[in-house]
Amino acid sequence: MAGLNHTLALKKNLDQRARERFTSSLRAYTLVDLADQLRSDYSEEQTAVEHPHQSGEDVHRFLKSRDLFKWYSSLRCTAQELVWQSTLRALDEDRTTLAGLSGVTQVAPEKSAVGGSLALDPKLSLPSYIDTMDVHLMPGNYQGDREDVSVHPGAVYDNGLEVFSFGVMGEHLDDIGHSMANFTRLRWPGLTVDTVVDVGCTIGHNTLPWKQAFPDAQVYGLDIAAPCLRYGHARAESLGVAAHFRQANCDQLPFDDGSVDVVFSSMFLHELPRNVINDFFKEAYRILRPGGLIIHMELPPNEALAPYDAFYLDWDCFYNNEPFYKEFRDLSYPALCRDAGFDESAFFQATLPRYTYVDEQEFRDAIDRTASFDEDTGRLSDTITWYAFGSRKQG
Ligand SMILES: C[S@@+](CC[C@H](N)C(=O)[O-])C[C@H]1O[C@@H](n2cnc3c(N)ncnc32)[C@H](O)[C@@H]1O
Repeated sequence: MAGLNHTLALKKNLDQRARERFTSSLRAYTLVDLADQLRSDYSEEQTAVEHPHQSGEDVHRFLKSRDLFKWYSSLRCTAQELVWQSTLRALDEDRTTLAGLSGVTQVAPEKSAVGGSLALDPKLSLPSYIDTMDVHLMPGNYQGDREDVSVHPGAVYDNGLEVFSFGVMGEHLDDIGHSMANFTRLRWPGLTVDTVVDVGCTIGHNTLPWKQAFPDAQVYGLDIAAPCLRYGHARAESLGVAAHFRQANCDQLPFDDGSVDVVFSSMFLHELPRNVINDFFKEAYRILRPGGLIIHMELPPNEALAPYDAFYLDWDCFYNNEPFYKEFRDLSYPALCRDAGFDESAFFQATLPRYTYVDEQEFRDAIDRTASFDEDTGRLSDTITWYAFGSRKQG
């Protein structure tokens, strides 16, 4: 792990680095080596059975009592907790790096060194699904439970994701954003991109690449959690990228009808209850101009996957405090777009290689193919392919 590459990066001693390396290695071992063994043992056992499993639920039921699955799940839960514990420890040991940011509340573009901004809405109330659980076991969740450092959850997320992703998500943990923005640039070369809104942006890892791919665009990162936005704004400034961070609920987007070219989200929908997803899609449709694009990076839908792959990706729903994960992946994504007003014929989906790990030609070649689903789709490893779906508003 190279370490976070911006001025908010914590000062870490050798013990801390060792803790993080151990946790990342444990995750890589569990998610790559042990996961491969689980898959191959399962396949071997299932060869030539009379009634093969028909769904992810069947596979889960079958594997639940197996020692290897218990071992895999137990290690994965332990590694998940270690991600956050090691991060909290690093934050406690270096309070000074973030302390100066605690007063960041509103920053107008003219006050920003690079032209970005931050606007918070102190009247916004948090929905109960956020306020009452720690999603993926992250202590304090996105809104945080510490009064002393108002950017604390943002720092937990940034440092935690670095450990969590064991080096496969890009130098700035932003490969998803680069893949999605450059896919958009190459797949729709005629699309006017003046305004991009990344909804559920957290600290903007995948917001900033849109500004890099479309330098003339106004790029907004929206989230409900103020501490993440404060940190995201400071991080963007330190990386020299002009982005505008806004606090809002996705069911009420602060943009006029027909005023936005691209509505983007990444790893967001699976953390929302169904009614909020529907409201968000309707809002996205409202703010898009005719011809505008909605694009979501997400986990692939269960209906497109073989039963084992569906089971594998649903693991988080049962063991990692991601209660809406499976319900979301059981949805029909084309129907979700259609029900919000998008024409059915405009639906698209794609599986993309990591952008910052391949050359432009390899990426171009990959986007010419239609979506292809296999064990690499959405599964965190160095062969991962990112899945995207979306639609365009009728012009
Ligand atoms: C998994 S994170 C998204 C990750 C981020 N998009 C990225 O690519 O790094 C989910 C985010 O959704 C935000 N969120 C949850 N419910 C929301 C809502 N109703 N409106 C806006 N943001 C919401 C959370 O605060 C959290 O930051």
